[in-house]
Amino acid sequence: MLGGFARLFHLQVRRLLFYLDPLMEADAPMERFRNAGQGHVFQYFCDLQEEEKKTLLLQAEEIDLEEVSRLSIAFRARDSMDLDFSGLKPAPYIPHPASGGDEEPWVEARALGEEALRAGRVAAFTVAGGQGTRLGFDGPKGTFPATPVMGKSLFQVFAEKIFASGARFGGQIQWLIMTSVQNDKETRQFFETSNYFGLEKEQVHFFTQGLMPAVDGNGKILMSGRGRIAMNPDGHGGSLRALVRSGNVERLRSLGVDTISYFQVDNPLVQCIDPGFIGFHLGEGADISSKMVPKAHAHEKVGHFCVKNGRQVVVEYSDLPGELQEKINPRSGELLYIAGSIAIHILSLDFAARVGGGAEEGLALPFHFAHKKVPCIDEAGNPVQPMEPNGVKFEMFIFDSLPLAGKSVIIETRREDEFSPIKNAQGEDSAETSKRDQSSQFLRWLASVGENVSGLETVEVSPVFAQTGEEFAARWRGMDTKPSLQEGIYFG
Ligand code: UTP
Repeated sequence: MLGGFARLFHLQVRRLLFYLDPLMEADAPMERFRNAGQGHVFQYFCDLQEEEKKTLLLQAEEIDLEEVSRLSIAFRARDSMDLDFSGLKPAPYIPHPASGGDEEPWVEARALGEEALRAGRVAAFTVAGGQGTRLGFDGPKGTFPATPVMGKSLFQVFAEKIFASGARFGGQIQWLIMTSVQNDKETRQFFETSNYFGLEKEQVHFFTQGLMPAVDGNGKILMSGRGRIAMNPDGHGGSLRALVRSGNVERLRSLGVDTISYFQVDNPLVQCIDPGFIGFHLGEGADISSKMVPKAHAHEKVGHFCVKNGRQVVVEYSDLPGELQEKINPRSGELLYIAGSIAIHILSLDFAARVGGGAEEGLALPFHFAHKKVPCIDEAGNPVQPMEPNGVKFEMFIFDSLPLAGKSVIIETRREDEFSPIKNAQGEDSAETSKRDQSSQFLRWLASVGENVSGLETVEVSPVFAQTGEEFAARWRGMDTKPSLQEGIYFG
């Protein structure tokens, strides 16, 4: 017993010494990489400056070589893997009252969610570690100016929503923000200089997600420089592992939080804290719950909520055969696989901790492969800017936790009220379309209180003024003097 303890202690001390001065322990990682057929990672080690050597050793220390080898083999075998769709069914969901769903469960769910919020059981969780390559914005995506009149950043929009929900339910809502090594510093600075947008600094918790090395077609780790491994974030599914590793599960537990409201950084329309959604999740005792929108057309590029072998799954648009995407439900006349995933979830903290604990907890998210252009060096150490995909990146996806869940619920939400992401620099899902959709929502709110909005295109309502049409109507009714409506009006 003591021997085991002594060994563990010795290991921990060695690990600590390594982090204090990686150069003292340089031989062991080099040997580990050589034995795994990845010795080229240290090919130029002797030529590096001391700091570069340390950086490379620290990067190498984070890599699980067995995992990389297993994934590389799986990547090479992927063409021979058949995706089996036998027995696939569309997943059931709870329809929104606006599309004919029964109103009563929604009222009950809202009351249950509000109770949980008043008890301080819910935290918000934004994943903001992506690279945002399609948007091509110079800075973390959350700092992108997203709103139609004020040009507020995505982070400011979420901060105001979380602030307003906290004020409404009488408490401080904790907000977790997952960044990546590449954007963590800039993200934190942005919040510092913006004074946390009115939130308390103590309620906002940043942590970075894990990294995975990129490999070439033969499973060799790619180097982005002579002393640097080409690493990339491990996908939004990495958020659960990062949540555990960062110690935030324990932090939330100690604060009495048992439920997480998860959303992605690029969608300003998201209801960061939706009492009804929280209530449906809690009422069912679910591990993870999801929102769906009816697909806009058969080939919309969203994942499809399905059931396979009795388990909920999301099948990506690139995987679902065209004929299934187009198949019509004879009873409704609508698409059979109609439920599109918009990456908005509620998770129980215990379930997030179990999935984030990975193999040790008996649950782990699988990795997906992305064949991408990865800038790297060639065998002679010269930089290469590939014109064609040359590397494989490994990423985990949050929706792969669905089949691991005991219970999960899907509810319908209205696209126009909840989903207009900023993914691309131009065209669909761009800042232009998202600003248009935000303005349209605010114009609908104005029209529903009887205002004439013809001729207006661009308006903005701060989440602190109102987060929903009902809240807007109540605020509007309470205004002694109503403002005269004009293009570019802002309700703050
Ligand atoms: P996307 O799939 O849109 O990827 O991420 P992206 O990296 O932001 O953008 P592209 O593909 O390079 O253009 C969806 C959400 O998941 C987060 C993103 O920040 C975004 O909120 N994400 C993605 C992470 O937090 N980490 C990742 O490793 C990947």
